[in-house]
Amino acid sequence: MSKSLKRKPIKEKIFFTPLHFCQYGVIFLHPFNGNFSTFITRFVNMIDRRSATKTILPLFVSFLVFFIGNKGLAQNGQQLFNQNCASCHHPLKKGTGPALQGLDKRGPWTDRKNLYAWVHNPAAFMAKDPYTQALKNEYGGVMMQGFSNLTEAEIDAIVKYVDDFKPPVTPTVATGGSTETGDNSLLFGILTLILAVVALILLQVNSNLKKLSDDREGIPATEPVPFYRNKAYIALGIVILFLVGGYYTVKGAINLGRNKDYQPEQPIYYSHKVHAGVNQISCLYCHGGAEEGKHANIPSLNTCMNCHMNISEYTGEKIYKEDGTEVNGTAEIQKLYKAVGFEPGKNANTWDMELGKTKPVEWVKIHNLPDHVYFNHAQHVKVGKVQCQTCHGEIQKMDEVKQFADLSMGWCINCHRETKVQFKENGFYSIYEKYHNQLKNGQIDSTKGITADMIGATECQKCHY
Ligand code: HEC
Ligand code: HEC
Ligand code: HEC
Ligand code: HEC
Ligand code: HEC
Ligand code: HEC
Repeated sequence: MSKSLKRKPIKEKIFFTPLHFCQYGVIFLHPFNGNFSTFITRFVNMIDRRSATKTILPLFVSFLVFFIGNKGLAQNGQQLFNQNCASCHHPLKKGTGPALQGLDKRGPWTDRKNLYAWVHNPAAFMAKDPYTQALKNEYGGVMMQGFSNLTEAEIDAIVKYVDDFKPPVTPTVATGGSTETGDNSLLFGILTLILAVVALILLQVNSNLKKLSDDREGIPATEPVPFYRNKAYIALGIVILFLVGGYYTVKGAINLGRNKDYQPEQPIYYSHKVHAGVNQISCLYCHGGAEEGKHANIPSLNTCMNCHMNISEYTGEKIYKEDGTEVNGTAEIQKLYKAVGFEPGKNANTWDMELGKTKPVEWVKIHNLPDHVYFNHAQHVKVGKVQCQTCHGEIQKMDEVKQFADLSMGWCINCHRETKVQFKENGFYSIYEKYHNQLKNGQIDSTKGITADMIGATECQKCHY
């Protein structure tokens, strides 16, 4: 017997396709019995059943993929840029290297292949390219380092991020915080809504079908029940309320004690933008602990006085509080002097940190993990080579520090799944001989590399005491 004879007729195959939605729509609209439903019926009949499954469904799927993929790319670009390029480049401002926005329109970068070659190995590219040789002279002979580990797609993502970058609207508002950590509530909301609509449609379909069959069998229609007394609707309402209420209660409970965007006022208006941004003081000058141990630590007033013995006035660009009031930098430095008992012009020659009557400045702590979580800075900064900015945002652009990440468990875990550890030439990882060998003989995709996850960073006990 030939195969085609065995095949069941298509009609009997039941697929739930977007087409069915249209059809339910027709039944749903049946009571109105107007022109609209005939129009839809015609329209639906026009579409061949199978071709609809073949065209609409893939279209729908690619639409979804486009949206999700696009978002992932932009986020990824920012992260990659901050991790690899931000130490020397800014999208709009000159730094150690040129501002990167609008790359595609200058020099050899009109051909993207040149850009890949450059990022993978600048020295080799420069050797035969006068444009970058001239750039090097312009930037004081500094040679850009190579990033052989970045894939072409990753470089594309960086370029996209750089080109889309816009400067912050006002000088005092920190940017970028909200895009980094994904928020799923919109997605949940939409899904709930879709489910509710589907449930409603099915209910209507059910009652309309019943009515149709009743009509046919000649059973007289019962008095219609108004929808607010219809038991099915009431039950549905309660279920929806329960789900939505439950979702927000759980969400609220989990968020208790989370402080994303927390930005308290500090006893001295100390600006990170002035120090770490404009004056380029290294984070580690004040937070050296971040390389050595668990805590990054807040610097002692001693550290401040190393410089402020001499700097008693603020003459830089105007600074503003979040609410727009201007800050008198010089007066803020006086607060520091008061705390350490230093009086310029009076006791400057005899003053000694130990002799002075020092009142500690009570900085308000911003980041706080619960006690049951173990987090170690050195592990991330020194071993993992994660930039401060990846976790804390662009502190060097903030006058007042704002909590950038929500410090949730999901935040930690997501990063551990996604972040490649800098495996090459990193003594800390020499114990993972197995992975080194697998990388070498291609068992592990070298473009994906070893993630923190693979060395155990998502095991419960690594983070929980
Ligand atoms: C250690 C500092 C440093 C890092 C990190 C760095 N660059 Fe550069 N980059 C430079 C310097 C300096 C130049 C100027 C050319 C030179 O002197 O090598 C430059 C030039 C460039 C140029 C040419 C710019 C132009 O105006 O034509 C591109 C493109 C570029 N870098 C991309 C990147 C990307 C992408 C990254 C991150 C993956 C990166 N760089 C990381 C220092 C750096
Ligand atoms: C000149 C010293 C100094 C430098 C340089 C400096 N900081 Fe700070 N940092 C402080 C002081 C003082 C505080 C406490 C007051 C505050 O929160 O603004 C602080 C607070 C912070 C906090 C919030 C701590 C908390 O309470 O949770 C973070 C995060 C931080 N700094 C990161 C950085 C990063 C990243 C850099 C480099 C871009 C940097 N700091 C450079 C002095 C400094
Ligand atoms: C992998 C993410 C991550 C990186 C990278 C990181 N931090 Fe932190 N930082 C945190 C978390 C989480 C806390 C809260 C720690 C706690 O409450 O125990 C924190 C707290 C701090 C604090 C408050 C004091 C303390 O130690 O609790 C300062 C200051 C700080 N970080 C500065 C820095 C600086 C400077 C760098 C870069 C040299 C840096 N951080 C890199 C995640 C990070
Ligand atoms: C490495 C040197 C250095 C260190 C350390 C330092 N400062 Fe400054 N500070 C500066 C410079 C430079 C300026 C800007 C002066 C100007 O532009 O006229 C400044 C400005 C200030 C201002 C006025 C602007 C503002 O941010 O409100 C205050 C207040 C201040 N510092 C407080 C502190 C405190 C508190 C510490 C210790 C946590 C500290 N500084 C550590 C170099 C330093
Ligand atoms: C921006 C990315 C990033 C974030 C966010 C992050 N981590 Fe990590 N973490 C890493 C990397 C990369 C390593 C691998 C470094 C290493 O081998 O120690 C790591 C390693 C660790 C380890 C050691 C794992 C091991 O196998 O030894 C612990 C524990 C840890 N992280 C805890 C945390 C906690 C807790 C948080 C959230 C509060 C957090 N991390 C957030 C990137 C991140
Ligand atoms: C990379 C670090 C990390 C790993 C691995 C990790 N956790 Fe967590 N966990 C956290 C952080 C950070 C918090 C605090 C979240 C907050 O305050 O919102 C937390 C909170 C919790 C809480 C308290 C409820 C809450 O959301 O605040 C429970 C329960 C928990 N974790 C269980 C687990 C279990 C079970 C595992 C293993 C499957 C695990 N954790 C693995 C970082 C981690």
